[in-house]
Amino acid sequence: MIYHFEPSANAATLLTDCVVVGIYKSNKMSAAAAQLDIASNGAIHSHLALGDFNGDKGRTTSMLYQLAGITAKRVLLVGMGEKDKLTLETLTQVTQAAVNALKTAKVSNTVCFLSDEANTASIEAAVRQSVTAVADALYTFNTYKSKKDEAPSLASWTIAHTLAGDFSTATKQGAAIAEGMQISRDLANSPGNVCTPTYLVRVTQELAGSSDKLDISVLEESDMEAIGMGSFLSVSKGSIEPGKMIILQYHGGETGVAPLVLVGKGITFDTGGISLKPGAAMDEMKFDMTGAASVIGTMTACTAMDLPINVIGVIAAAENMPGSKASKPGDIVTSMSGKTIEILNTDAEGRLVLCDALTYVERFNPYAVIDIATLTGACITALGHHTSGLLSNNDGLADEIFNAGKQAGDEVWRLPMNDKYQEQLKSNFADMANIGGAPGGTITAACFLSRFTESYPWAHLDIAGTAWRSGAAKGATGRPVPLLCQILLNHAHV
Ligand code: BES
Ligand code: MN
Ligand code: ZN
Repeated sequence: MIYHFEPSANAATLLTDCVVVGIYKSNKMSAAAAQLDIASNGAIHSHLALGDFNGDKGRTTSMLYQLAGITAKRVLLVGMGEKDKLTLETLTQVTQAAVNALKTAKVSNTVCFLSDEANTASIEAAVRQSVTAVADALYTFNTYKSKKDEAPSLASWTIAHTLAGDFSTATKQGAAIAEGMQISRDLANSPGNVCTPTYLVRVTQELAGSSDKLDISVLEESDMEAIGMGSFLSVSKGSIEPGKMIILQYHGGETGVAPLVLVGKGITFDTGGISLKPGAAMDEMKFDMTGAASVIGTMTACTAMDLPINVIGVIAAAENMPGSKASKPGDIVTSMSGKTIEILNTDAEGRLVLCDALTYVERFNPYAVIDIATLTGACITALGHHTSGLLSNNDGLADEIFNAGKQAGDEVWRLPMNDKYQEQLKSNFADMANIGGAPGGTITAACFLSRFTESYPWAHLDIAGTAWRSGAAKGATGRPVPLLCQILLNHAHV
């Protein structure tokens, strides 16, 4: 799909297969709908007067064909609900309603005026959001089906505004974010027997080869052994698949400017290890590398947006298996930091791979470090499937991330993290245990990580509830790529 932006457009004079315009509650016309109504001698008004279509509720659509006085072959009316309630979220919903109505039509190019109506704080954010909404509604993952679904004929989507103002950069950014989300979803949806740590190396090497601004290095298990990453290795050694630590460096800013570091949990399958998980829905543990996938997607988008900042993406990739070399409950390992860990539950493996990655990134003198992980089932209990968990050792950074979530419609909620929770990690035999018991599981997981992040501003995103959907619509969501991209955009001041 190709995305364009068109300023100062007149909806009535566009050469396109379909023009998409909004109708509000009580049949109040949007600016573009009014243009069509005038040019067609009241055809929109007459259609609305029939009463079949109702803009009150929003997300409803009605297709009109070959109206006299209008150059577009089709007009798609979209119900917008109440004008003063048009949030970023409704804009997404109405845009997706339009895409769904067009999916089965023989439409290859479309001009859409819906974001023209955005009365949000940032029109740029609304434009980016409408592009990602289109891509989201069109996303399919057919790689492993012998009979592919028929692809919609939509090939080009133009965002048009009746007003002057150039939002072509925001449109391109939206397309870059959409591409990053797609890459992240494709990786996360890929099965565990394909998407291994070695596969993630291949994908990131290809990505790095596509830009002069990207460099890649990979730590093999022997390299990790040499620098004492005993915690990471205690997980990867349970599997025949070798663990990998991938470091992707994007040099968009001046040399020497402190980088933002993103660290992704890349457990390509989580069986739980010797503390084996129950069988129900265990297939969903192929999604346990979504943190890594979101880092790869975000680095892709960052490169496409050509942001003038330095960003480093680190992926801690391993498979958590109960092989004959796997850790056993009670085993004690020494992390790269020198701190010792008693592994009381081998299913709390995410923190074991992340803690060594978090120590490793100290060498980059980061401006800030954000780790992204499907870390705890407890986060789903706490926040459900709509909001990611945020925990941080730095209030300024936490606020930045919270606000970026609002801007991008990819929201987070901060949970507390203080010394009282730290006590739950006490071990009788080592510096700490890798679990803190049932109460506040998301918080004690973050407390564990916080012991390895004392030298820089750090935030942790627990995406266990938001990274994928279960049930009939099972699949990766692409989150939190929009949030991470928004953080980068804000950091780059563009
Ligand atoms: N990958 C899981 C967390 C998870 C579970 C995400 C279910 C999404 C759905 C993680 O490695 C894990 O197993 N965590 C344990 C921690 C516990 C042993 C302290 C959990 O949440 O049960
Ligand atoms: Mn686990
Ligand atoms: Zn896991």
